[in-house]
Amino acid sequence: MKVATIRAQSLSKQYPGARGVVALSEITVDIPAGRFVSILGPSGCGKSTFLRCVAGLEDITAGELLVNEAEVHSPPHGIGMVFQRDALLEWRTIRKNIVLPVEFAKKRPVDYAEKVDYLLDLVGLSDFGRCYPRELSGGMRQRAAICRALVDDPGLLLMDEPFGALDAFTRDQMNFELQRIWMETKNTVLFVTHGISEAVYLADVVMVLSPRPGRLMETITVDLPRPRPLAVRETLDFGHYTSHIRGLFDQMSVTG
Ligand SMILES: Nc1ncnc2c1ncn2[C@@H]1O[C@H](COP(=O)(O)OP(=O)(O)OP(=O)(O)O)[C@@H](O)[C@H]1O
Ligand SMILES: [Mg+2]
Repeated sequence: MKVATIRAQSLSKQYPGARGVVALSEITVDIPAGRFVSILGPSGCGKSTFLRCVAGLEDITAGELLVNEAEVHSPPHGIGMVFQRDALLEWRTIRKNIVLPVEFAKKRPVDYAEKVDYLLDLVGLSDFGRCYPRELSGGMRQRAAICRALVDDPGLLLMDEPFGALDAFTRDQMNFELQRIWMETKNTVLFVTHGISEAVYLADVVMVLSPRPGRLMETITVDLPRPRPLAVRETLDFGHYTSHIRGLFDQMSVTG
């Protein structure tokens, strides 16, 4: 898939059933190809729902959603997904886990051997391709999951709190590595997180959603040069972004 564009016009999503929750309301956003977009918002505001709609795993109930200018009805090809828990298959080696999407796409894994080498090297796991997931630390497993999401050159990478289960130090490292990987792959990324600092550090654009039903409160463009060292988080410029977003959250708890 080519690097994806995403366009939502008054997108709303209500889950079916008598007490069907309205998860998203009137979301309008235009994401050009190759942007790194962080999505922030209180628990239950519809962040995962938004990702699932983009992935074609949920139908929207009103408005329009276009990925590469085409309406989404079923999972489009060329999407990589990473979740909070890595979902590696314990009985497969790391290499065999990484080529899974290739097998699903009915392509030959042997043709991807070099790609797997490249990805393992990119995330610092070259020596672990023949290991099983249980032999890796939490951060290493999550890096393997990122390789798996990237193996078939997705034009769109959807990440739903991928580092939520990691300790603070590993999470910092993963943030730095993810930025580096993205600067090489240059695909479009939607990255859901609860961390304001993480969201700003990684993003070109931060979408802040309101409490349920999730509305788009504000879209903030992060204008900090890349590559961003982790220490950028201690700068005044960075602090302006995080305190502004924290202000939005304060506003939500007052009004919400
Ligand atoms: N499959 C489903 N069927 C019915 N309701 C659902 C379903 N999935 C989510 N919801 C509801 O939709 C709302 C939004 O859920 P969603 O998982 O998108 O929130 P979230 O922003 O990702 O929250 P969190 O930060 O806790 O992960 C919630 O009220 C939830 O109860
Ligand atoms: Mg969620």
